[in-house]
Amino acid sequence: MKRSIEQLVAQMTLEEKAGMCSGGDFWHLKGVERLGIPAVMVSDGPHGLRKQEQEGDHLGVNDSIRAVCFPTACATAASFDTGLLETLGRVLGAECRAQGVGVLLGPALNIKRSPLCGRNFEYFSEDPYLAGQLAAAQIKGIQSQGVGASPKHFAANNQEYHRLTCSAQIDPRTLREIYLAPFEAAVKAARPWTVMCSYNKINGEQVSESKALLTDILRGEWGFDGYVMSDWGAVNDRVKGLCAGLDLEMPASGGSTDRQIAAAVREGRLPEAVLDRAVGRILDVIFRYADGQGAAEFDLQAHHELAVRMARECAVLLKNEGGVLPLGQRTRVAFVGEFAQKPRFQGGGSSHINAFRAESAWEAARGRYEVQYARGFSAGGDEADEALMREAVELAAGCWAAVVFAGLPDSFECEGYDRSHMRLPGCQNELIRRVAAVQPNTVVVLHNGSPVELPWADEVPAILELYLAGQGAGRAAVELLFGEANPCGKLAETFPLRVQDNPSYLNFPGNGDTVEYREGVFVGYRYYDKKEAPVRFAFGHGLSYTSFAYSGLRADKTAVRDDEPVTVRLEVTNTGARAGKEIVQLYVADCTGAEVRPEKELKGFVKLELEPGETKTAEFVLDRRSFAWYDPQRGSWTCASGRYGLLAGASSRDIRQRVEIELTCTDPKPYVVDANSRYDDLLAQPALREFMLRLLEKEYPPAPPAESGAARAAITPEMQQRMDREAPLRSLRSFKGYTQEQLDGLIARLNAMLR
Ligand code: BGC
Repeated sequence: MKRSIEQLVAQMTLEEKAGMCSGGDFWHLKGVERLGIPAVMVSDGPHGLRKQEQEGDHLGVNDSIRAVCFPTACATAASFDTGLLETLGRVLGAECRAQGVGVLLGPALNIKRSPLCGRNFEYFSEDPYLAGQLAAAQIKGIQSQGVGASPKHFAANNQEYHRLTCSAQIDPRTLREIYLAPFEAAVKAARPWTVMCSYNKINGEQVSESKALLTDILRGEWGFDGYVMSDWGAVNDRVKGLCAGLDLEMPASGGSTDRQIAAAVREGRLPEAVLDRAVGRILDVIFRYADGQGAAEFDLQAHHELAVRMARECAVLLKNEGGVLPLGQRTRVAFVGEFAQKPRFQGGGSSHINAFRAESAWEAARGRYEVQYARGFSAGGDEADEALMREAVELAAGCWAAVVFAGLPDSFECEGYDRSHMRLPGCQNELIRRVAAVQPNTVVVLHNGSPVELPWADEVPAILELYLAGQGAGRAAVELLFGEANPCGKLAETFPLRVQDNPSYLNFPGNGDTVEYREGVFVGYRYYDKKEAPVRFAFGHGLSYTSFAYSGLRADKTAVRDDEPVTVRLEVTNTGARAGKEIVQLYVADCTGAEVRPEKELKGFVKLELEPGETKTAEFVLDRRSFAWYDPQRGSWTCASGRYGLLAGASSRDIRQRVEIELTCTDPKPYVVDANSRYDDLLAQPALREFMLRLLEKEYPPAPPAESGAARAAITPEMQQRMDREAPLRSLRSFKGYTQEQLDGLIARLNAMLR
């Protein structure tokens, strides 16, 4: 195949080759008829197929074909279920195949830096490990159907404000550990056919022109072998972009950038080999699709049922006091709020699916349960209507329980702009409080793509977070509320009490031109945990109608080298009366003190399905990367020898079991002694310790007790010793009479002892 692609490129004219590097129209690549190169179509993604047959646009303005809207990524992330994501991918891939679409533009895996990013509903998590694992599973599913995926938006597109021009100012460690890590995992594990580069700049450089990102890291380090396409309109300087590794510009450029490429080749500014390489990559992916085979049709109705099932797996039971849920066969339940009739199940912009149907909770419950409905408020905005509220409160007061279907109106979160606050509409907050005041069994169901402040959380006994759960959201909600299904999702992000608590708050969304990522690696729970700050609901939190006990956490070795895997196991038992699923999380805590690091980081998760009384073993395999941080000085992932905690939790704030292991780093950062090496660091080097203790004893003997009481009070011998050990070697010259030659000699001797 490689050879024939090369031959094909060789047969193309310069203009044909330049033309291959931008779209033919909004959704198609160009074809070359005389050479049998088809014009392949690409479509959004990521939680359904948005295939536009007529006029194209990238913001969901024009109609697309009727399709199935599956749960959005904010919801699927809460499933912590790679199998579910793989199934979603497979189904989407099959829809693409049947509709003649060669690449699905997704998944979107940017990190949720702030709850205010307007597009958070399309993204998975605040945690890079979770986002990477889920994205990889979805990509594998899509590509199993002979259709390409396009993980996006690479990279650091964490806000919508000035998204085409703003520069994300990120230090290299943070970039690697938090913002690139999900892409790295997805590229390495799932080998996507394409990657979509983001609109923004990073540290002043347009991502679409970054050789470091698009070539050195993506291809050189991670082994990516497909084509890089631009986000729609992300191209700034086309020739520069091509040289950096941006193969395909989307959408069409009207031929103008094709002419720029051809002129640059003719004028010797662009080596033709660079163009040939990009064209080769594009053709390779075109033929992976064209030569492949797959589904010819798909069953909308069957996929709707799947959408319902998936929505059930994603919902998170945030609170359930006094066992108010499940409602069971309770008579007289009030459904309050327009979302009960019109669920909000997806967000606005390029991912908006023309859902062929949407099942509301009202539609699913009516006739099966004794429910009554009062609108209470309009789902479309924030206008309080006293008559509607009064009617809803009266209905709620007269029933056994009230379920308020609350959520964000469409205009509150959308692609293209960020949220200005983290609140629900005021009219909904007020209605919830008024209903809760008259009805002790008040349940709130949330439809939102990102955390919201929940000022009434202590006033209601139960909260069910649905997220934007796709067209099956309403039926899934009913099945969970009444107990036909057992909630099993957990939060893939922290719910802060207030937006002001979020670590990015002081630097979001920046000054318009730049946005400083000053919180560094302390994103989401990494920050809240380090600060021991209270949160509304912690990362990883989610309840069930049953309960689980954790026991027997153990590692297969307690002393381990960093070049061998560690297997960690524990038993989980369903201690309740009904079947359920538990998401078990494994966090690693670096106790070596070698670098400033989060308290703990997620490095594994499994979802276990357990019958009442049943016990299963959760198993995790950790490798070097599970313990490592990115060291910008070495330009590589590194870890320190020493103790690490392995923490098994039902959430990041509900750690049930903890063991420690001793890790030996096989590639320690070389320690080099110089005049500024401090005594305490030198003492920490095993090879130097004895020598240094003797040296310090000689040069810094314990001071005799001070004569005067005032001097004794000023500094004790312990204080003196601590102060001395903070000093660097060159203090021997300043205070102990060493000559430069003696100091240099000592340094040389110490370095020799280290070798
Ligand atoms: C979005 C992408 C999308 C593209 C095509 C852009 O505005 O950022 O996620 O795939 O449009 O619709």
